[in-house]
Amino acid sequence: MGDLKQWSSCHYRRRDRYRRRHRRSGSKVERKIKNVKGKVMFSRFSTQASRRFVKPTIQQVRFASTKPAVAENTKQVAAVTAGIVGSTALAYMYVDNTVSANMADEGLHPPEHPWPHNGPLDTYDHASIRRGFQVYQEVCSACHSLDRIAWRNLIGVSHTEDEVKAMAEEHEYTDGPDDNGDMFERPGKPADYMPKPYANEEAARAGNAGALPPDLSLMTKARHGGADYVFALLTGYMDAPGGVEVREGLNYNPYFPGGAIAMARVLFDGLVEYEDGTPATTTQMAKDVSTFLNWAAEPEHDERKKMGMKATVMLTGLLALSLWLKRFKWAPIKSRKIVYK
Ligand code: HEC
Repeated sequence: MGDLKQWSSCHYRRRDRYRRRHRRSGSKVERKIKNVKGKVMFSRFSTQASRRFVKPTIQQVRFASTKPAVAENTKQVAAVTAGIVGSTALAYMYVDNTVSANMADEGLHPPEHPWPHNGPLDTYDHASIRRGFQVYQEVCSACHSLDRIAWRNLIGVSHTEDEVKAMAEEHEYTDGPDDNGDMFERPGKPADYMPKPYANEEAARAGNAGALPPDLSLMTKARHGGADYVFALLTGYMDAPGGVEVREGLNYNPYFPGGAIAMARVLFDGLVEYEDGTPATTTQMAKDVSTFLNWAAEPEHDERKKMGMKATVMLTGLLALSLWLKRFKWAPIKSRKIVYK
C-alpha cells in the first residue's frame, strides 16, 4: 500500500494518458473513413477547431453546420438592401427631375439600324469601311478634318499597304526644316495624318458661313446614337414643316438638335462611283460613311470583341475550376460528422 495521494496522482496521470490515446485513435479512425471517401483535407483541423467551440458537456454533435449564422446574415443584408432601395426611391421622388419635352430642342431620336457589327461577336463590314472611306475622301473631306486617323491606320483594315502608299503620295505635306532652315513640300507617307481641309478654325468658319464643321474622328462617340445618328443626319434632310422658319443659310433636319443645321444635304444618288459596283444610293453612301466613321472612332472594335470572347472562354474555364476546387476543399467540412466520446 503506498501513499494514497501518490497513488491517486499516478491514477490520474494514467487516466489522462488513456484519454489522450483514446482521442487520438478516434481521430485516426475518422481520418481513415475520410481517406476512403477521398476527403482527407482538414480532418485534423476540423476536429481541433470544433473542439474549441463545443462545450465539454456536449457529447455528440451531429451534422454540424454553419447554416443558422448564414441565415441571420441574409436577413441583415436583406434589411440593409431594403433600406437603401427605399430611401433612394424616396429621394428620387422628391428630386426635381423635370426635363424639357421639346422634341425640336432635343433633336429627333434616330432610329436604330441593324449594323453588321452590332452583335457581341460581330466584326465590322470591312468592304463597307472601304466604301465609306471613299465617300469621306470624295465628299466630307472638303469640309471635315479627320485628325486622329493616319494613312497607315487603313492598312489591313480597308486597303493594302501599296494602295495606302499610293493614296498618301497624292497629297503634299509640309516638312522640314531642311539643312538651310527652310520648310519644304514632300509627298505624303503612310505615317502622315489625313490632310486637313482648312488651315485653322477661322478659315473653316469663313468657308462655311460662320459654322465650324467639326472633326469627324470621334463623331460617332461624341453624339448620342453614334452611327445611327450620323446616318439619320445624312439622310434626314427635308423641307421644313409648316410654321417652322429656318434662317437663311441653314437647312432643316429634324435629327439635328434645334432642327436647323448649317451643313446642307451633301449626299445624292450616284454622287460617287464605287469600285466594287455597289449602287451608290444616298442611303448606301450614308451607311458606308457611318460605318467608316464608326471604325475611325473605334478602330479597336474587332480586336476588342475577339479579346472579349477569349477572356470569356478562359474565365469560364477558370470559374468552373475554382468552383470545383472550392467544393473539393469544403467537402470534408460540409460533410463532417463530429463525434466526441
Ligand atoms: C460643304 C461643307 C460640308 C461637307 C461637304 C460636309 N459637311 Fe458635315 N458639317 C458641315 C458644317 C458647316 C457643319 C456644322 C453644322 C452646324 O454646326 O450647324 C457640319 C456638321 C456635321 C456633323 C455634326 C453634326 C452635329 O451633331 O454637330 C456631322 C456628323 C457631319 N457634318 C457629317 C458629315 C459627313 C459624314 C459628311 C460627308 C458625307 C459631311 N458632313 C460633309 C459642313 C460640311
